[in-house]
Amino acid sequence: MNAATGHESDSARIQWLREELNRHGHAYYVLDQPTIPDAEYDTLFTELQQLEIKHPDLITADSPTQRVGGAPLPEFAQVQHDVPMLSINNGFSEDDIRAFDRRVGEGLDQSGDVEYACELKFDGLAINLRYIDGVLVQAATRGDGSTGEDVTANIRTIHSIPLRLRTEHPPKIMDVRGEVLMFKADFARLNQRQRDAGLKEFANPRNAAAGSLRQLDSRITAQRSLRFFAYGIGHLDGAELPDTHSALLDWYSELGIAVCAERAVVRGADGLLKFFTDIGTRRASLAYDIDGVVYKVNRVQQQQALGFVSRAPRFAVAHKFPAEEATTTVLDINVQVGRTGAITPVARLAPVSVGGVTVTNATLHNEDEVRRKDIRIGDSVIVRRAGDVIPEVVAFVPERRPPDAREFLMPTACPVCGSVIIRPEDEAVARCSGGWLKCAAQRKGGLLHFVSRRAMDIEGLGEQLVEQLVDRGLVTTPADFYKLGLITLSELERMAEKSAQNVLDALTVSKSTTLPRFIYALGIRHVGESTAKTLARHFGTLDALMVANEEEILAVEDVGPVVAQSILGFLHDPLNRELIEQLRAAGVHWDESAVERQSHHLNGKTFVLTGTLPNLKRDEAQALIEAAGGKVSGSVSKKTSYVVAGEEAGSKLAKAEELGVPVLDEEALLQLLENPA
Ligand code: IVH
Repeated sequence: MNAATGHESDSARIQWLREELNRHGHAYYVLDQPTIPDAEYDTLFTELQQLEIKHPDLITADSPTQRVGGAPLPEFAQVQHDVPMLSINNGFSEDDIRAFDRRVGEGLDQSGDVEYACELKFDGLAINLRYIDGVLVQAATRGDGSTGEDVTANIRTIHSIPLRLRTEHPPKIMDVRGEVLMFKADFARLNQRQRDAGLKEFANPRNAAAGSLRQLDSRITAQRSLRFFAYGIGHLDGAELPDTHSALLDWYSELGIAVCAERAVVRGADGLLKFFTDIGTRRASLAYDIDGVVYKVNRVQQQQALGFVSRAPRFAVAHKFPAEEATTTVLDINVQVGRTGAITPVARLAPVSVGGVTVTNATLHNEDEVRRKDIRIGDSVIVRRAGDVIPEVVAFVPERRPPDAREFLMPTACPVCGSVIIRPEDEAVARCSGGWLKCAAQRKGGLLHFVSRRAMDIEGLGEQLVEQLVDRGLVTTPADFYKLGLITLSELERMAEKSAQNVLDALTVSKSTTLPRFIYALGIRHVGESTAKTLARHFGTLDALMVANEEEILAVEDVGPVVAQSILGFLHDPLNRELIEQLRAAGVHWDESAVERQSHHLNGKTFVLTGTLPNLKRDEAQALIEAAGGKVSGSVSKKTSYVVAGEEAGSKLAKAEELGVPVLDEEALLQLLENPA
């Protein structure tokens, strides 16, 4: 073989490798449907890299190897947008949206329902991508709308942005517009890396995306896993603009440009509002943050007829969710004592509305967290409250720190009972050493845990009532609940005979329980719901558990030495044994044979649930799997027996396919549950 043919065959191989890598990259990053395992991709990639080192003359700008970033820039160049990048008007209420639809109808002089394209409002940064003859030549930020910054080197590192469009006949010039964002999982990984390296964490995925995109050193951007979704178009030359917005997005998809799958074409205001509600229920399970949805009149002709008002189009509106983050002031930081004595620093805040509720307290988790985030009394802070999650302080705003901001000092004595606070050397959590008997806070916490929905489920015994019962010395241990009488209860504040009777009825009902619930209700440290279930299944009866020795407890699946010690310590404490006796004497019981009668045909099988199932809620699916002896875990590994995937299944599904783990839909799961194969 002479040198020339060597070069030729290498050139053909390079061509082939690029096509292969582009095809797999597109499947992975754009379609979210991986076609080969990561390791195989890496092998092909390395081969291409080596061939390109051998033949530097064959390197092209659109080669998949050219996504790793290059030498740092001195500064970003300015880019003038051909067509300005506008903003969009916001609506918050149903009325706002109906008014928008009415204005559109009037503007178009149309009586029937207008057709709209609905999509998500991504919480990232707007970007303009310029393709000339199908090749990505420039990427610019929105900037002030007319002038942005040239971030081409950084944008080239984003795999969901094609370096070359997938078409034989690309437009002469095409400006693709969309959002650069960071997925929640990538954000969590990035912050973990920052923490490990002792670097500052990012407050949220949006800030992380912005920080990553505004790096002068694109090699850093290359390590940041940014994503892109297209949602609009600027300049277009040498191709026909599709008739509708939805067709534009379909076209993008054909060209290999990532568009979000969560989109719909609807009619009229009712259609818009239904889309909003649908997305709202699924928001938390999306892989990325959104701050609302966007409605656009679908027909391009109608868009043009409606035109613009000042800086925003008349044909589009963003329907925003109530903000999940807000900025407020830390008035004070003090501590709360939990049921296990855990001392949690809590920031007392100037009232602020977050996610539609007024927040005045936010958790700071533990002492190290306060130090790490460097939150001080007097600081302006970003507070987050997502879904039902308890509000937390995300970060302070450095520019607004007052000179007299005060550091938080961890108290040395429990603010409730005065006992010493102890923080074991290797633990993050400090605890009140007073224990259940001395510390009313622990008592209240333990009692509230006992009555909680997933434990004994005693309705009507809320925080205020338990507080009064403890403060008046009427209840010390859970067994005391069952000694309460109608008169005592009805004499309490905010209680009447009717509500007192309801509590008594709920107490009676709660006496018929299940073994897992009972074990969980005891509040043994490290024994959560899932361990309680495993223990119940393993031992079958409470008596068997109570006589088990360390070795026998360690034989239980997922129980390690720390958990085993905690269980033994609890069950060997005479006070706890007495409590269990008293509860049984009060009539608390469960059907012990029920535990054994359960089907066990999924014993030893591990399931991972991902996405939204059509009918079953996540905890319903979990309960069914567990009732059949299976286990539900959070992450996919080679040991996973099945992945149950619903709509919007993301990386877990990809992982399952990569590892060859069987994937079930809801129907297949139900079949498996019914037919012990
Ligand atoms: S369309 C002419 N669609 O929201 C309309 N914008 O306030 C131009 N955004 O700067 C914007 N998701 O960063 C549009 N599906 C979406 C969007 C979206 C997020 C952002 C974008 C823009 C801002 C407009």
